[in-house]
This record gives sequence, structure tokens and C-alpha cells, in this order.
Amino acid sequence: MQKLIKISISPEITQEIGAEIAKLLMIGDVISVSGELGTGKTCLIGGIVRALGGGDNITSASFTMLSVYDASVPIYHFDAYRLDDSAQAVNLGIDDYIFGKGITIIEWGDRIKNILPDGSLIIEIEYIEDETRKITIFSNSEKWQERILKLRKIWIL
Ligand SMILES: Nc1ncnc2c1ncn2[C@@H]1O[C@H](COP(=O)(O)OP(=O)(O)O)[C@@H](O)[C@H]1O
Ligand SMILES: [Mg+2]
Repeated sequence: MQKLIKISISPEITQEIGAEIAKLLMIGDVISVSGELGTGKTCLIGGIVRALGGGDNITSASFTMLSVYDASVPIYHFDAYRLDDSAQAVNLGIDDYIFGKGITIIEWGDRIKNILPDGSLIIEIEYIEDETRKITIFSNSEKWQERILKLRKIWIL
């Protein structure tokens, strides 16, 4: 299994990482982005959305649960922070998006881990210090291994 670990030293680099991931995305992809408050989840998602032409107005979707960006493909940005559990997400109809014709990005995806499709890309962000973050990218799914390998080749440090 490919596991990519990247150290970001600024919000700009985190967005850049998002933009590189964006180049590899396909309709139907589901991405889970996890990490404590203020680690840069929304920042990274913003990098993805911007790179796909979805504009600059990316905020945490906490109060609305779902933001839809009209990018080159529809991007559904969920924020699971305020969800009690996975059942609530299912009741709210999250499956229609996850199995729909867009790209679904779930902020705080670890909170609804048990309903994430097997083919999800998992991104975990950890605070190290000041503007330094550790970003871990992996997936258990075969369909991501080659794409993660491609990312590894781009990010030679
Ligand atoms: N390397 C970094 N990557 C991402 N954000 C960073 C980084 N260093 C500092 N920051 C700051 O941390 C905050 C992250 O905010 P945000 O993306 O909203 O976090 P989250 O969505 O995880 O709560 C921003 O104020 C950003 O400027
Ligand atoms: Mg956020």
C-alpha cells in the first residue's frame, strides 16, 4: 500500500498539495480529510477546489453541512464536524453524493469512517509546530495506488 507523507511549511504549500491531488481526481472519487481544528483541512480542500476551477470562496461547511462548488466537475464538500454519527449522515442523504456524479470531499471524514466507501482517499493532517504540518495520504483501495505513486514522484524533496 502506498502511503505518502508530506511536510507542509505554509498554508500556500498545503494548497499546492491540494492542487496536485486535484489533477488526479476523477468523477466518483471520495476524499476524507481529517485532523484537529485549525490544522488546515479547509485550506487543503480550497487548493483542490480552486485547481478544478471552483472559485476561491471555500469555507468550512460546518453550518450548512454541505457546500457545492460548480467546478469542472461538481464538488460536494461535506463537513462532518457537527454530525452525531454515521447514521445521521446517511439519513441526510450523503450516499446520493458519495455515489453520485461528482467528487465528494468529506472534512472530518474520520467521524463517519464506517460509511466511507472502500475506495476513498484518506488524507490526515497533523499539527507539528507553527506553520508546519504533517500530511499523510493513503488509501486501502487498489484504484488509488498508482495515483499516490504519481504524487510521490512529483514531491521529491
Ligand atoms: N502549513 C499549513 N497548512 C495549512 N494551514 C496552515 C499552515 N500553517 C498555518 N496554517 C493556518 O492554519 C489555519 C488552518 O485553517 P483551516 O484550513 O480552516 O483548518 P481546519 O479546516 O483544519 O480547521 C489557517 O489560519 C492557516 O493560515
Ligand atoms: Mg475546516
